[in-house]
Amino acid sequence: MEISNKILEILQSLGIDQSLIKLDHPKDEKFGDFTTNVAMVLGKKEGKNPHEIAQELKSKIKPDELIAKVEVVGGYLNFFIKPEYFKKQAEKINFEIEFQNSLSQYGKNKTMVIDYSAPNIAKPFGIGHLRSTNIGQAIYNIYQILGWNCIGDNHLGDWGTQFGKLTYAILNPEWNSKKPEDLSIDDLEKLYVKFHHEAETDPTLVDKGREWFSKLENGDKLAREIWQKCIDISQREFDRVYELLNVKIDFAYGESFYEDKMADVLKMMEQKKILKKSEGAMIVEFENMPPAIATKTNGATTYLTRDLATIKYRVDTWNPDLIIYEVGSDQNLYFQQLFASAKMIGYNVDMIHIGHGLLRWKDGKFSTRKGDTIHLSEVIETAMEQAKKIAPNNTYEEIETVAIGAIKFNDLAQDPKKDIVFDWDRVMSMDGNSGPYLQYTYARCQSVLNKTEIKEQKDIESLPNSINDEEMALLREFYKFEEKIVEAAERYNPAVVAEYLLGVARKYNEFYAKHRIIGESEETWRIFLTKTTASTIKSGLSLLGIKTLEKM
Ligand code: ARG
Repeated sequence: MEISNKILEILQSLGIDQSLIKLDHPKDEKFGDFTTNVAMVLGKKEGKNPHEIAQELKSKIKPDELIAKVEVVGGYLNFFIKPEYFKKQAEKINFEIEFQNSLSQYGKNKTMVIDYSAPNIAKPFGIGHLRSTNIGQAIYNIYQILGWNCIGDNHLGDWGTQFGKLTYAILNPEWNSKKPEDLSIDDLEKLYVKFHHEAETDPTLVDKGREWFSKLENGDKLAREIWQKCIDISQREFDRVYELLNVKIDFAYGESFYEDKMADVLKMMEQKKILKKSEGAMIVEFENMPPAIATKTNGATTYLTRDLATIKYRVDTWNPDLIIYEVGSDQNLYFQQLFASAKMIGYNVDMIHIGHGLLRWKDGKFSTRKGDTIHLSEVIETAMEQAKKIAPNNTYEEIETVAIGAIKFNDLAQDPKKDIVFDWDRVMSMDGNSGPYLQYTYARCQSVLNKTEIKEQKDIESLPNSINDEEMALLREFYKFEEKIVEAAERYNPAVVAEYLLGVARKYNEFYAKHRIIGESEETWRIFLTKTTASTIKSGLSLLGIKTLEKM
């Protein structure tokens, strides 16, 4: 970032307003490292020829210790950076502490709460919550390395009418013969499905479910016991999944945690006069959205009220600058209503809903379509089989690293907001945009580093006299790592980092295919490039929550 700031400063010192300057990396390397269209913007504003303005600006910018030269192409001003700068930045990545110190300046003294994963108790961990878990954890990691104080909170769906239904189903001897503590997560799901199936022909069941939920709310001993057992069973399953996915969420205050905190928040809503009676229920109205229900006719609270109590709790406890919700786009409207309600109560903290898209199977099936929810454990099993094929000589644990890495990377390498397609060929591809491709490139670097007699090259004294095209293309990538991490945070989009890593890997593999390393006169320098590639991929993947392996 040092370098882009420097270019901005130079342009500003020539009297250009900062708001007019946009710096980009040219798509094609022959146009340099940075480009700006500011001459065109000025030309339009002042009715002058952009090319002439660009020429004039160019004549005023003198090459210095960072800038090698400036070129004008059409109305564009292109900057070429000195290789010494690239080398310095590459060294910084290799000295991890230095790199981390520099990154941690961005978020100093700022606090962010991220709400992610949030599966529902008594339902298996479906593919839908997988996206939230992976993207949420990556965003957490990215903000953390940028120096933010991060708090992850798993807003478990552990309260609500579904527990009444489940309790009824568990206690119905015709449906279930096991003791609650002996039930598995699959049993729970089957009973839940059974309830809905039977309720289609017997509507009185819905009342029975409601009765049991009411009992739960009123602290009935049996209802509470069964509810707690369901939580324990589910929690064990979720913990297993999190461990496998390399995910660690700081807190898991589920929805039930807020049951005794409802009165306060409802009182605040009353005071601000934002509650309105409507057919026995209490609703919140908005200017340009449909109303939302705060309490139901029977007085029971809703998802919305629990979320408002959650905001109050988070603000009171952590006083965050930012709250991020990593929840599916099917809840877009809901989150707009939630944020608007929170503002009306008086909460001004920045709140962002990422709203990830659906995951679609290549054959067209959507994972959320009723009845054909695809379970995460089945996906992992298939991934394991495929990973065994591409890493036949690796240990079971390493194969698992490849399988999980592949699934996660597929999720993270695409814009969270878009629907994504799950296509096994692509997920596991060894020569394309995949997790295994990055892990393989990393292992290739490690194998080179193992062969050399030269001690690990974290830095080099000086650049070689001549640098070939492939080396240069690779060297010019490294300084971008820092700005990509910052951009990923600003856009709440881990794919910025994922794409960047693929670019680095591609450049390394192009270099590797064309040039020998071991035993050449340029060995030291090439080992340095290899070492920097490995460091970049390893730390980048670790931000995405994906592990590397030394051999593959
Ligand atoms: N459990 C919810 C679901 O599966 C997601 C909760 C998201 N977080 C929140 N604060 N509302 O749909």
